[in-house]
Amino acid sequence: MSGPHPVAIVGAGLVGSGWALVFARAGYRVRAYDPSAEIRGRILTWAKQSLDDLVDAGLAEDPDAIVSRITVHDTLEEALADAFYIQESVFETVPAKTEVSLAIDALMAPGAVVGSSSSGIPASKFTEACVNRSRFLVAHPVNPPHLVPVVELVPAPWTAPEAMEMVADLMKAVGQVPVSLTREIDGFVLNRLQGVLLNEAWALYSDGIASLADIDATIAHGLGLRWSFMGPFETIDLNAPGGIEDYAARLRGLYAGMVRTPPPGPWSDAVIAKATAERRAAVPASGLADRRAWRDAILGRLASFKKSNRLAN
Ligand SMILES: NC(=O)c1ccc[n+]([C@@H]2O[C@H](COP(=O)([O-])OP(=O)(O)OC[C@H]3O[C@@H](n4cnc5c(N)ncnc54)[C@H](O)[C@@H]3O)[C@@H](O)[C@H]2O)c1
Repeated sequence: MSGPHPVAIVGAGLVGSGWALVFARAGYRVRAYDPSAEIRGRILTWAKQSLDDLVDAGLAEDPDAIVSRITVHDTLEEALADAFYIQESVFETVPAKTEVSLAIDALMAPGAVVGSSSSGIPASKFTEACVNRSRFLVAHPVNPPHLVPVVELVPAPWTAPEAMEMVADLMKAVGQVPVSLTREIDGFVLNRLQGVLLNEAWALYSDGIASLADIDATIAHGLGLRWSFMGPFETIDLNAPGGIEDYAARLRGLYAGMVRTPPPGPWSDAVIAKATAERRAAVPASGLADRRAWRDAILGRLASFKKSNRLAN
């Protein structure tokens, strides 16, 4: 599976280091580059710690072999040398993405493809001037990518279909779940769906319809249980005796009446302050890092459960 050519990681912060694990775990050699010496110094230690958790959850074997496939480099040129795929994960700003894309463009091996972890900036905003722009696209992960497999592939208008296919195949090969968009749209698919839910959650809370904890419980102990292994369309297909068409016949009137007009504006400062006070009472700021580790441990156990019950991709 590893093939002769390595994968390059450009920007090895929170997301880039997760990507390094994804590719190394699947057998690829990984060359990581970050301009920060502090970040470079942390990559391998972090990878070892995270791998111990993955091994405990039954999601990885032979951690020493996996870590040995990752090398850390202090120049972009060295990291890109003969890489066939480059995962860029630098800061989420147009100037940072433009600068690094042009630098990669000048050094990338012939035929190499570049996926940007961009959460929302479309590739057309930072790759237009690249000579190899047909081989740049967005490959947007969910954090942390080694525990949450979905990755959104979003082409710029000039991205070649072959580059999209190559990255989709690679993502499948390394155990991720690629979702391919046909064109650029604000928020891609994941954040558009999340945006609808968040806007409605803020509105329900702000109108005093339910407490913040009860709104969270509705997802954590209700909708979210199904959503960890099936999407909204399959959910409604199973929720009426005659399937999705039957569900639509019974309930489309209910949903039509729920659309908010006009569309929601930005979340208000006053409501954010109220929600912040409730959340910090539940988990103080000093406890957030532990709570994130708790989340990752549960995500690992959930991934392990899905794997052993053949619910993984
Ligand atoms: N954190 C998340 O939840 C999340 C989820 C999905 C996607 N993303 C996206 O991933 C990207 C990285 O986010 P992050 O959370 O890892 O941020 P981060 O701040 O942890 O990491 C960014 C890294 O990029 C490095 N960097 C800056 N300029 C660079 C350059 N010219 N060349 C190489 N490296 C450079 C920095 O030193 C830093 O280590 C962003 O586009 C972000 O939107 C983040």
